[in-house]
Amino acid sequence: MHPSEKEFADLLDYYHINYLYEPRSFPLRWDGSRVVEMFTPDFYLPEYDQYFELTTMKQNLVTQKNRKLRHVREMYPEVNVQLLYRRDLMRLMGKYGFGPLSEVSVEGTERVLFDEATVQRRVRELGAQLTEDYAGEEPVLIGILRGVVVFMADLMRAMNLPVQVEFMEITHYGEEREKSIDVIRDVMTELKGRHVIIVEDIVDTGLTLRYLLEYLQAKGPASVRVCTMLDKSVRRMADVPIGYVGFEVPDEFVIGYGLDYGGRYRNLPYIGVLQPVEPKAVPQR
Ligand code: PRP
Repeated sequence: MHPSEKEFADLLDYYHINYLYEPRSFPLRWDGSRVVEMFTPDFYLPEYDQYFELTTMKQNLVTQKNRKLRHVREMYPEVNVQLLYRRDLMRLMGKYGFGPLSEVSVEGTERVLFDEATVQRRVRELGAQLTEDYAGEEPVLIGILRGVVVFMADLMRAMNLPVQVEFMEITHYGEEREKSIDVIRDVMTELKGRHVIIVEDIVDTGLTLRYLLEYLQAKGPASVRVCTMLDKSVRRMADVPIGYVGFEVPDEFVIGYGLDYGGRYRNLPYIGVLQPVEPKAVPQR
């Protein structure tokens, strides 16, 4: 019915996830024996026993939908329905998407969170702090590809210390993110007895970091700390210690300074929020 539904369906197809489109309606209100209000979630994923309702409206315009959803949950507590907001879809498409919607539905930056000068100032502060904390040592900076490249390039030059620089690359697979991380490229340097600083562009759920901390600890370093440019702590699922944070960010899709949407925008010198295109109005069904 709607381009975003098509895109979501394509995404499910691509990952071989079975779904049914609008297989069931849930009656919510009756006038005598006649149903006068019902709710028909867009997708059902039988293997997960999970319904999804997609909304491309802005979050503050979905009160009506939210009300319906609340009723469904009250009246059918055994049914799992999740509402995917426009921003959830954006996040999904940004990470796993492809095709027309992920190409044309964004216009770039909605607003700048941290301009170039602010970013550079903060990186210099972090560099100075690390220089002080690691005085007399030669730490190993380990960047997690790919988003980290811009931050790493600036941070290492803001540190007035001998440092070694390494990169790791990981991949996510399967449905349970926490159990499904693989290291594709490992560090080349021997880490035994070394002071390690994991460098990240952003920590979101923290699941990547939890895995990495455990993975690197097993190599017997003298210490492991984390330095991230951005911290989206509102989305944290794993309790991970973070020693150095550039900025705290809100729960929005952030781009620039290494962070991408569908592979683009990494080279913006500032950090901003992604601008989605206002979807065209579609007739109510
Ligand atoms: C980002 C970021 C972290 C991870 C954090 O990488 O660089 O590695 O996500 O997410 P988490 O806290 O929810 O685990 P991404 O997978 O976007 O890859 P990229 O750096 O290549 O863009």
